[in-house]
Amino acid sequence: MTNHHTTGDGGSIESRLTEQEYFRPPPEFVGQANVTDSSIYDRFEENWPAAYEEFAELLDWAERWDQVLDDSNPPFYEWFTGGKLNASYQAVDRHLPERKDQTAILWEGEHGTTERIAYQDLYRRVNEMAAVFREVGVAEDDIVTMHMPMVPGLPISMLAAARIGAPHSEVFAGFSAQALADRIDDAGSDVVVTIDGYYRRGEFLDHKEKADKALELAESDPETVLLFTREDELHEDVSIDSDDPYVLVDEVLQDKQGVSVEPVARDAEDPLFLMYTSGTTGQPKGTQHRTGGYMAYVTATSKYVLDIEPADTYWCSADIGWITGHSYIVYGPLSLGTTTVMYEGAPDFPHKGRLWEMAEKYDVDIFHTSPTAVRMFMKWGEEIPRQYDFDFRHLTTVGEPIQPEAWLWYYEHIGGGDAVIVDTWWQTETGGHLITNLPALKDMKPGSAGFAVPGIEPAILDDQGNEIDPATGQAGNLVITKPWPGMLQTVYGNDERFIDEYWRAFSDTSSDDPEDWVYRAGDGAVHERDGYWRILGRLDDVMNVAGHRLGTMELESAVAEVSDVAEAAVAGRDDPEKGTVPDIYVTLREGVDPGEDVRDRVVGAIEAEIGTFARPANVWFVDELPKTRSGKIMRRLLEDISNDEQLGNTTTLRDPSVPEDIRRQVQD
Ligand code: WTA
Repeated sequence: MTNHHTTGDGGSIESRLTEQEYFRPPPEFVGQANVTDSSIYDRFEENWPAAYEEFAELLDWAERWDQVLDDSNPPFYEWFTGGKLNASYQAVDRHLPERKDQTAILWEGEHGTTERIAYQDLYRRVNEMAAVFREVGVAEDDIVTMHMPMVPGLPISMLAAARIGAPHSEVFAGFSAQALADRIDDAGSDVVVTIDGYYRRGEFLDHKEKADKALELAESDPETVLLFTREDELHEDVSIDSDDPYVLVDEVLQDKQGVSVEPVARDAEDPLFLMYTSGTTGQPKGTQHRTGGYMAYVTATSKYVLDIEPADTYWCSADIGWITGHSYIVYGPLSLGTTTVMYEGAPDFPHKGRLWEMAEKYDVDIFHTSPTAVRMFMKWGEEIPRQYDFDFRHLTTVGEPIQPEAWLWYYEHIGGGDAVIVDTWWQTETGGHLITNLPALKDMKPGSAGFAVPGIEPAILDDQGNEIDPATGQAGNLVITKPWPGMLQTVYGNDERFIDEYWRAFSDTSSDDPEDWVYRAGDGAVHERDGYWRILGRLDDVMNVAGHRLGTMELESAVAEVSDVAEAAVAGRDDPEKGTVPDIYVTLREGVDPGEDVRDRVVGAIEAEIGTFARPANVWFVDELPKTRSGKIMRRLLEDISNDEQLGNTTTLRDPSVPEDIRRQVQD
């Protein structure tokens, strides 16, 4: 089955879906679930938005809010206004009376070293790190950029920054020096946090190297780079020059032992963090999340959707460098006082049973991963998990549509046929789950994300913005018609772009009536006749590569910088494992011969500008790109070619023979 889809010239969104059967949640699961009363759906519908107080009440507020939602200036919605709270207090301090000795973070290094950080230890380390930030001059509202891999120093730094009211901006460790430099500049960070290195497939990766280079590339000039060390000392291959802005975290920590730093009471609307993500135009944008609404939303969805209990051992195998890790490794689970697992390394190191070995060893109850990972486990074969004695009660998938075959495999071979699966649809911008089942209340349906989270109002619009009747099974643009507490506040420093990217398409932007504002998700979806929502994938120029979001514009502008390249266009190719992979179509300057050298430079440019995870599947050198008479590149035709499909409508092209020539070159 493929999820390939296009929006054709006529604006129709096609999908090929097959009907699936339903799976009942197992009675043992239902018997212990956090939500078993289906009135929650009605409550949120009848009492919207006031019902969201139930979410906020899961937190400990320093001051209670006056108003649940201020929607007087759409789309700049404000949640729980007048309320004050601190995010690190929710994740750490409030658990001390009841569970200071319980493990908060269970970290495993790739070599098998385990660190169990109890809530009391986490409290100590977060306070000490907060004191480190203060000492190097971080003040409330300063944005701290972090470029950290999966080591305990990452969540500790995030919580420490939150403690003193400094928003963090964590940049996934796989991003290149250039990508880091761009994000440091955009956020205007004076303080950066990184580490000497980490382990991946047995090898020590020098990570400081990227920060060194980012400092050269950045236009701004950060004053301090706080450097963690992966082991007790700086790695022998890594050094610091005396005139560098680097400061060893361990050195500053020396006189901070046992200090306490008061958590700053932040306004509910004060920003908690930025998460840069790819959009349809230009550079990645800083998705800005608020403190109160975000914390309320991720805490509630962790409890109701992920069914987390404090006594659980919960493991999400995502990287904290992406939104999933922020919401559902760090803030949501810790806010609920559970044990959250973090693993440093590769799932197949030193063998393909690594994850299941850990699940057995730590007796993991809830496991959360991506469809890409499930497809990989499937490829490795069911004999691998069968060798381990683990027992999950709950499984999650996130990040892409999951094909029913993969869903069924996950259900049977990882869930043992008696775990629930929630397929969670959401985005960096939404902060938390929007479409997914409350697992004890709804039957599972492979391939469908399920129903909307209570209070969330999705709809399907055609390309002209007309609403398609609910539950008619027609594909269209997925939109959300009402605000929710976890939504982004804005694009950092760029309100105009926030409106352009998410609202303009389907809203009356001159209106101050919230009814006239509609959030465009950028995904295609189907509202099926039985009320289940099925997500088809991105409709805009954003690709989902192995669960990582990439903008075609970013890839194209990286390639355009290669000296011999005249023009480049990117098309997504369906991939059985990664979902989508980028194919790059390139025209070269006069007199340049296509060959390995240019190809290497094209690939190298993508790795340098974005990171190795964005490496293209193919680089095709072509004579000409298909263009409309007005000169617009028709990426849709390239996508048809990459996916071995019939060429779509070519009548609007300047030269209709171009795609046929390319097709012959690629498909023959
Ligand atoms: C896709 C990740 C189908 C979708 C949390 C969305 C999904 C993009 C699902 C956001 C799902 C996420 N089923 N597609 N359950 N979850 N997506 O910002 O295309 O990295 O727009 O956030 O991933 O990716 P992002």
